Amino acid sequence: MFLELRKKFFEFWKERGHAVVKSSSLVPDDPSVLLTTAGMQQFKRYYTGELNAQSDFGSSRTTSIQKCFRTSDIEEVGDDTHLTFFEMLGNFSFGPVKSDDPKDTNGNGGYFKKAAIVWAYEFLTNILEIAPERIYVTIFKGDKDNNIPKDSESYAIWHKEIGLSEDKIKEGGREDNFWGPTGAEGPCGPTTEIYVDNVEVWNIVFNEFYKNKNGEFTKVENPGIDTGMGFERLLVMLEGAKNVFETGAFHPIISRIRELAPELSERDTRLLADHVRSCTFLIADGVIPSNKEAGYILRRLLRRIIATSIKNDIHADIFTEVYEEVKKLFGNIYPEVKNSVEILKVWNDEKSKFEGAIAKGIKEIEKYETISGSQAFYVYETFGLPFELTKELASATAVRDLSYQDYEVEFKKHQEISRAGAEKKFGGHGLVLDTGELKAGNEQELSKVLRMHTATHLLQWAMRKVLGNEVHQMGSDINPERLRFDFNFDRKLTPEEISEIERLVNEEVVKDLPVYFKEMPKNEAEKVGALSFFKEKYPEIVRVYFIGSDESGGIISKEFCGGPHVQSTLQIGKVKIIKEESVGKGVRRIRATVE
Ligand code: SER
Repeated sequence: MFLELRKKFFEFWKERGHAVVKSSSLVPDDPSVLLTTAGMQQFKRYYTGELNAQSDFGSSRTTSIQKCFRTSDIEEVGDDTHLTFFEMLGNFSFGPVKSDDPKDTNGNGGYFKKAAIVWAYEFLTNILEIAPERIYVTIFKGDKDNNIPKDSESYAIWHKEIGLSEDKIKEGGREDNFWGPTGAEGPCGPTTEIYVDNVEVWNIVFNEFYKNKNGEFTKVENPGIDTGMGFERLLVMLEGAKNVFETGAFHPIISRIRELAPELSERDTRLLADHVRSCTFLIADGVIPSNKEAGYILRRLLRRIIATSIKNDIHADIFTEVYEEVKKLFGNIYPEVKNSVEILKVWNDEKSKFEGAIAKGIKEIEKYETISGSQAFYVYETFGLPFELTKELASATAVRDLSYQDYEVEFKKHQEISRAGAEKKFGGHGLVLDTGELKAGNEQELSKVLRMHTATHLLQWAMRKVLGNEVHQMGSDINPERLRFDFNFDRKLTPEEISEIERLVNEEVVKDLPVYFKEMPKNEAEKVGALSFFKEKYPEIVRVYFIGSDESGGIISKEFCGGPHVQSTLQIGKVKIIKEESVGKGVRRIRATVE
């Protein structure tokens, strides 16, 4: 059914006046969205009337099979139904509505609820011959808070036109029966969903509203239709397969992995199958691994392929081998997938980078006697060593008490901080690191801000030496261009003081002192004299960053700090103060950079 279903679907909609439109790239031209998550993505501006489908496609009805990518379910990959990359079958109508009569198959203008529902049901039951007993549907029950009424029209169509009994029409709320918008704003509306054997197969969206940036819903002038049906899920039903991985969309891929790694668990086999397939499509659409946005998603997936291979002692080059199957299966449908030279180059580059990082990460974990959740997260964040590998590669005693839950707590904390920061600054995404204090958009910037962060600790130490121990941090902000450090002091610094501070800092830099952290109860950290930042509320267990050790001639700096930092001072490079100024009564600010 892998090819047949595509053909049947397009035939059906062509017979109903739809223009077949090619899948758009996984990388959308909409800056508010990272990757294409739905068939309607490429049509967003046709719903708003900004673009005209009639003139661009020769019809205000289109149909497509769209390459889609969703990361929201990434942790579910490996079960029976969840995938990162999948294809979505869809039909679309852009207003104004000319005829909503399903018998009117020659129509060319927009249609609406009745035609959309009747045709969808016809496709499933007549063309695909799915028995009506296997079907039930859901409709939108309304949302009082936003003044959006219940979708009684759809109810009536299912009940009266199609003849479904009342118990087969269930109601759902905003969570399940309202779609969109994708990104910050756009068309959206109530949905009716068709379930077969209790699995959701078709989502029919009535784009009746526009949600603006302030979160307000307004009724659109010309409502549209947007439907989406998961290709792989539908294959499961049509082929009578046990799960998506046993369908024609995966079978040769899974078989090849089983040949290469016969001992691998079912879940990891599926994970590799999903990831090799999805990474192939991402790279084919021009995504390159990086530390931000789509590049970051690709990097994570590629690294999971490598980590899974290492963890399971797989010696074959899984990606290279399995990619051949992906190419055979999809190359004729999506020619970009045939570009083996570029695709394998991206893979090989990332593989060597990650292997280098792993070697460093292993050295790091060897230093710890025991590894806590937050240390495991630190190693992940700094060296990219995934949790499973830390667990696998560290000594058994060190990870005895390390649980995924503890790691996940740290991971979530970080995610929330960076999400909140990124939303403020980049409208939803964009930064690889945003702790509030440190901000970096890519790998290069990341390494720069880490150097400046450690430089900030050294600066505070040197300032206290030169200006007195009353001096302490009042604020800090670090981006790839400069660090900014606010401190209490009531006069302008002399040029001599500034150069003395610089000299002291750089003297310590070249000593290559170790930089590391320990976790300890808050009161203990205070007892050892770690500097804290009075504005901040600290948890009971805190991280203290140290610079220097007994072996290196003594600890020179101890600060309450979440990190991350470089590992030794030599990595900082030369520190230069660029400016000193007042920012209020008793508060001064220096800006510095590293060379
Ligand atoms: N946009 C809807 C979805 O992705 C229908 O295509 O489910």
